[in-house]
Amino acid sequence: MASTKFIILQLVGLLLAISIAVFQPTAVNISPLFSNESKCPVPEYVGTFDHNDTQFLLHDKSFRKFAAERLSRAIQIDTVVDEHMTDFSKFIDFHNYLRTEFPLVYQNAIVTKINNYGLVYEFKGTDSSLKPILMMAHQDTVPFGDLSEWEYHPLSGHFDDEIIYGRGSNDIKGLLVGLMGAMTEIYQKNPNHKLNRTVIFAFGYDEEISGDLGAKNIANYLFEKYGPDSIDHILDEGAPMCIGVNKNYYGFVVTAEKGYLDLAIEVNAPSGHSSNPTDKTSIGLLSEILSSYEKDKFKPIIPDENPMLNLFECVSEQSKLPFFYKLITKLSRANELAKNLLINKLANVSLFEYTIRTSQAIDVISGGTKYNALPYNATAVINHRIAVGDNEDTVLSKAVKHSKTVAIESNLGLLVNDKVLIEPTKNGVIKIRTLYYLPVAPITPIFDDIWNRLTGFMRNFYEREVFPGKFIDTPYIITPTTMQGNTDTRHYWKLSTHIYRSQPGITNLFEAHMHGTNEYVHIDSHLQVIAFYYNYILNIC
Ligand SMILES: *[C@@H]1O[C@H](CO)[C@@H](O)[C@H](O)[C@H]1NC(C)=O
Ligand SMILES: *[C@@H]1O[C@H](CO)[C@@H](O)[C@H](O)[C@H]1NC(C)=O
Ligand SMILES: *[C@@H]1O[C@H](CO)[C@@H](O)[C@H](O)[C@H]1NC(C)=O
Ligand SMILES: *[C@@H]1O[C@H](CO)[C@@H](O)[C@H](O)[C@H]1NC(C)=O
Ligand SMILES: *[C@@H]1O[C@H](CO)[C@@H](O)[C@H](O)[C@H]1NC(C)=O
Repeated sequence: MASTKFIILQLVGLLLAISIAVFQPTAVNISPLFSNESKCPVPEYVGTFDHNDTQFLLHDKSFRKFAAERLSRAIQIDTVVDEHMTDFSKFIDFHNYLRTEFPLVYQNAIVTKINNYGLVYEFKGTDSSLKPILMMAHQDTVPFGDLSEWEYHPLSGHFDDEIIYGRGSNDIKGLLVGLMGAMTEIYQKNPNHKLNRTVIFAFGYDEEISGDLGAKNIANYLFEKYGPDSIDHILDEGAPMCIGVNKNYYGFVVTAEKGYLDLAIEVNAPSGHSSNPTDKTSIGLLSEILSSYEKDKFKPIIPDENPMLNLFECVSEQSKLPFFYKLITKLSRANELAKNLLINKLANVSLFEYTIRTSQAIDVISGGTKYNALPYNATAVINHRIAVGDNEDTVLSKAVKHSKTVAIESNLGLLVNDKVLIEPTKNGVIKIRTLYYLPVAPITPIFDDIWNRLTGFMRNFYEREVFPGKFIDTPYIITPTTMQGNTDTRHYWKLSTHIYRSQPGITNLFEAHMHGTNEYVHIDSHLQVIAFYYNYILNIC
């Protein structure tokens, strides 16, 4: 004890000294050390479950087999999409599957097809003063990749008594079929239950290629029908609700999504014969820009609103972390120095780096037509995932910085989204263009009533029904987090301020080879979807 105290004092002293010496007054603030206020309050348990029904859905042998085979049949239907697709009529097979397997849902819901293949199920509640809840998933999957690398055919839906294999098992038919299954159980087990609150299911069909056909039109339909901010909360695919990482278990609730930006950098320089070349061709000039652009990574940042900061606060308060991490986490909202230490530590961990840093990847390049002709045009496209706190300007300024150096050195013009920064010259021009920009998603508020209801319910479900006794020595840490990719919710921002991307389940999506070969879902994860939504809807609707 004594020695720990001594180290604490030393560290605090050191921090203070450095702070005063180097930084402005905000860096000196160590007042959070003397506060015992939680930055990550653990929610109270929410909901009452029919223990018997819940255990049946989670563990009954014949139900398990029935549910696995039903999901397997969904996986056997090809719903692969790719960027070049124009005919989506194969989705009719999937619709027929849903109608056949879930007759009770079709009897009780208003089913609307949006843009032919998008599906909306509205289960009407009796109390119109309660805002509806909206559960999302998508019907489509990514392509198979190399078939020879699959142990079982991606459309086999092979079940080995624990694991269901196949494309879409994890992303995200296990969730979609589970939602339909949960609703079926509600109508089967509680034929007299009347929903007070409307429940909506919305299943797009092109999430993997941006959702412009499915989710976008579904969102418009719901917006017309229900209005702005009309949905209590939205739950979509995302992080698992209960996964083990090292010695802890986490309930990851994604409350922020990074932005997205495709940037084109084009260099036009005089064409001509290769026997009498200019010193640098458009390709050479573009290479110079790209090479320095790539070396200059975006600055990692953690503005206070980035849920990653909440994540570290939750972990720091609820589990064992090295003292140094606890210290800088506790101080980081009030103390710039501590914040910077935290940023530097995290930017160095590959798991976290791009949750706090805008990413850049030069993905496409084109230029040149002939071996003996100087290329007039060289163009590259750089993909970015924009960190919370950054925006289009962050990316454009960096592109301008590196392009300007080359423009000045080689006497070229410079255009940014058609705006002339430097007039084009006879040597040519560099053109920077935003091809597609999606800002960082609005951040879902946390620790409010809707958060507490969802996460209190998760605690109840996982701590008391799924894993009773497990979380006595091991914490179950429910925490907000940030997602690096985008979901269909990008089209739903106007419908609700509370968008969560999280699904019942126990498997890390990367471990389950989401988008890779041998994708799988554990049957327990699927049964948890059914049991979770069965109770969640009965309790809050
Ligand atoms: C913080 O400390 C005060 C005073 O000692 C106490 O009343 C309060 O319950 C504590 N709060 C927490 C969250 O521990
Ligand atoms: C619980 O379910 C089992 C089998 O499903 C049934 O035999 C038992 O009577 C049920 N118990 C209660 C209290 O409903
Ligand atoms: C992490 O830190 C180590 C040691 O300081 C350094 O060698 C390494 O390059 C860093 N990695 C990243 C991703 O910053
Ligand atoms: C240069 O090539 C890119 C990529 O092929 C193309 O989008 C662009 O229009 C071309 N520019 C000119 C001036 O031809
Ligand atoms: C639905 O409303 C009735 C009548 O107000 C109430 O008794 C019941 O508890 C409500 N159910 C839920 C799940 O809120």
